[in-house]
Amino acid sequence: MRSTQIRSTFLDFFTSRGHHQVASSPLVPDDPTLLLANAGMNQFKPYFLGETNPPFPRATSIQKCARTSDIDNVGRTNRHATFFEMMGNFSFGDYFKEEACAFAWELLTEGYGLEKDKLWITVFENDDEAERIWRRIGVPASRIQRLGMEDNYWSMGVPGPCGPCSEINYDRGPAFGKDGGPAVDGERYVEIWNLVFMQFQRGKGDKKGNFPILGPLARTGVDTGLGLDRLAAILQDVPNVCTTDLLLPTLHAVQDLAGREAPAEGEEKVSFQVVTEHARSIAYLIADGVLPAKDGRGYVLRRLMRRAVRHARLLGIEGPVLPAVTASVISNLQAVWPELSSQAALIEQVVTAEEESFGRTLAQGTRLLDAAIARTRESRSAALPGETAFELADTYGFPLELTVEAAHDAGLTVDEDRFAALLDEQKKRAKAGGKAKTAEALRKLDTYRELSATLPRTDFLGYEHLDAEATITGLLSGGTVVTSADEGSEIELVLDRSPFYAEAGGQIGDTGTLTLTDSTRLQITDTRYGLEGFRVHSARVLEGDVRTGMSGEARVDAARRAGLMRSHSATHILHAVVMTILGAHARQQGSLVEPDRLRFDFAHFAALTPDQLTTIEQAVNGHVLDDPAVRAWYADRVEAEAAGAIALFGEKYGETVRIVDIGNFSRELCGGTHVAHGSQVGAFRLLSESSIGSNLRRVEALTGHGTLRHQDTERRLLGELAAQLGIRPAQALDTLRKRLTALADAQAELARLRTADLRTQAQALAGTVRPVGSGRLLVQKIADVSPDELRQLASQVLNHLSPGPAVVILALEHESKALLAAAITTDLLDHGPAAQLIARAAGTVGGGGGGKGALASAGGRHPQHIDQALTEATEDAIHLLGSR
Ligand code: ALA
Repeated sequence: MRSTQIRSTFLDFFTSRGHHQVASSPLVPDDPTLLLANAGMNQFKPYFLGETNPPFPRATSIQKCARTSDIDNVGRTNRHATFFEMMGNFSFGDYFKEEACAFAWELLTEGYGLEKDKLWITVFENDDEAERIWRRIGVPASRIQRLGMEDNYWSMGVPGPCGPCSEINYDRGPAFGKDGGPAVDGERYVEIWNLVFMQFQRGKGDKKGNFPILGPLARTGVDTGLGLDRLAAILQDVPNVCTTDLLLPTLHAVQDLAGREAPAEGEEKVSFQVVTEHARSIAYLIADGVLPAKDGRGYVLRRLMRRAVRHARLLGIEGPVLPAVTASVISNLQAVWPELSSQAALIEQVVTAEEESFGRTLAQGTRLLDAAIARTRESRSAALPGETAFELADTYGFPLELTVEAAHDAGLTVDEDRFAALLDEQKKRAKAGGKAKTAEALRKLDTYRELSATLPRTDFLGYEHLDAEATITGLLSGGTVVTSADEGSEIELVLDRSPFYAEAGGQIGDTGTLTLTDSTRLQITDTRYGLEGFRVHSARVLEGDVRTGMSGEARVDAARRAGLMRSHSATHILHAVVMTILGAHARQQGSLVEPDRLRFDFAHFAALTPDQLTTIEQAVNGHVLDDPAVRAWYADRVEAEAAGAIALFGEKYGETVRIVDIGNFSRELCGGTHVAHGSQVGAFRLLSESSIGSNLRRVEALTGHGTLRHQDTERRLLGELAAQLGIRPAQALDTLRKRLTALADAQAELARLRTADLRTQAQALAGTVRPVGSGRLLVQKIADVSPDELRQLASQVLNHLSPGPAVVILALEHESKALLAAAITTDLLDHGPAAQLIARAAGTVGGGGGGKGALASAGGRHPQHIDQALTEATEDAIHLLGSR
């Protein structure tokens, strides 16, 4: 059975049993506690926790998941992957264990036709009920095994819902491993489907995965995950996940690059599979907006890319590998996952750039490593210091495995314990920095959860109204719930209805006032989402005491909001323009919408030229002047996507989405507030363009009053310039150009005159030298030259005195400092450099100097001692010339 049919069989089975089909969420989750989406239930977490009422009691989805905890197993087992599609069915307070088991059994045995006696079941150690259910379904006791917390208890790995689970495993036969069931051998009895019986809420755990159970969930539920890769391997009767139709074309691409087939066993097989499997994760992560970075999810991506490249090199593939292998992922899977084709250009650019830069890292690291190996050998030590390995990894991104390998080839080991200790220290330092902040944020988050579970949802009125009657339903101070707050305090509040837009989609939150009585007033300083769908207003009590339950008039700062609407609509217009001018890859990667000012980040591989910037600015203004209508409408997500609406990276959209159209050229999913007509954006002005990471550009721009203010400032500046030049602004540039040319000519003339003057002075000075022994000496204080000219003068005078031996010492008082210059003929250099000759004199004027050769200068803070210094310099020079 092909994977497309496996997917449709699954979705058909569950939709025909009352499950609402939900699209996969992006890999970048909308959950601050989670790095990457790791299970189908992630997007339903608020439903399980009771924070939000589920819009449907049953759901089914095929979710993109990334799990790098298994990264080292990739290629070593048949079944592990860092990215996979998880097919799931979910119940939110609806059915529980009985139906979950029955559904799974029916689909596996009848829908997919798996042989019943190849299926083995595991249940949680004390879950008698689950065992009874399976027995009733007809599974013999001999194929049901009980396992503990580690295997049969599931949580997201972070605080959230959790519960015991029951796994369905398929016996692939003795060729795959030992007898004895899943408790004995996970390769032979491969886990395909996990049924989680959500019952409890877990708290924060320790490193070993122990975590406290905080209590029962508001409602029990079911969360299941059937691995598409694993089921495909069984139904297609192929040995591992890399040989299913999901990955086989990519394995072929790797084989083409390597010029040979992957062997069935051994280290080479591992490398073939690592490159194949990682290529898929890389393509999907970039398609969902992850870009390589030093930390966070960007680092996960970078690590996958580096690992893939390294394993390709182990296979002897020297040229670029990532572009070709990710291209095969795109062409194989784009029909099911259109984000792969719409982001194909970006994927190619990102992997190409990263592979090139990793190539440089490897080259640089190899040089340093070779040097370190040589040093270690010289010191007759057998182990490369942990510090070296750490520096290579930390500063140069050179992976430890490579250091170990290279050291091994040179007959050395690496002090890996020291490396681990250094890494640990670094992590602790980083953690200590973030800890205090995190504790407060987590406490707040708990309070928000508590409030959002009990309070009704805030009715948002801000698309139509800027003021509204509102009642305070919740008050928070310092992150905990309170019932009243005094004048002057800073608090947070929840309202039953609110015209204030909460920060989302790049648009910052509204501010304004809340007037409760004639003598009770609050200033609203910000509006945000504390949790998904849970609006929190930050406020300062200006006057009076505030209590929960009080009502009054909430009023948005209208001028500020108008500026925000202008910037938000301008951002959409800019997005459309940038994609038209630069190409479809240039999608939005982030934005900040402020009153009359915006920042817009997008994918592109090169700096924009001044011409491109002008074209973009003109095109945006052209659209604004055409005054397109701006229209918001609602649709279900599938309809919206079919209508070509652009969904942004990393944004979470519900089933019903809001779509904002501007004219007929821009259509985006967006919850923001917008102007009604394009012309209300006013003049649009690009301010700057810069790089903010590999393949990532940022522009900043102004709209409305922002542009007008900027233009005023520029006009005033030009006026002042013109006034200084004494002409009209229109002539300023011409006049300035002429004056600059005249100034440059005058400077050149001045320099010429100075040079001539110096030459004359040098000649005159040369006439005043006095003979000393067989040589000649000139010591003189002079004036009206620059420090540079002083040195020039010394060497020019000396030229007149060659051949030597001769010494010239000049002094100058310049800006309250004493300066000395000495020039000696080269025949005197055997006695030391010129600097040595004036060392004593330089000390006398309170300073020092330098210079290695026949010309030296020195300076000091005591110009009043110049005469004495020159006397000493004369003595030293006479001594030098006399000693010859
Ligand atoms: N959420 C469960 C898992 O990921 C189904 O295994």
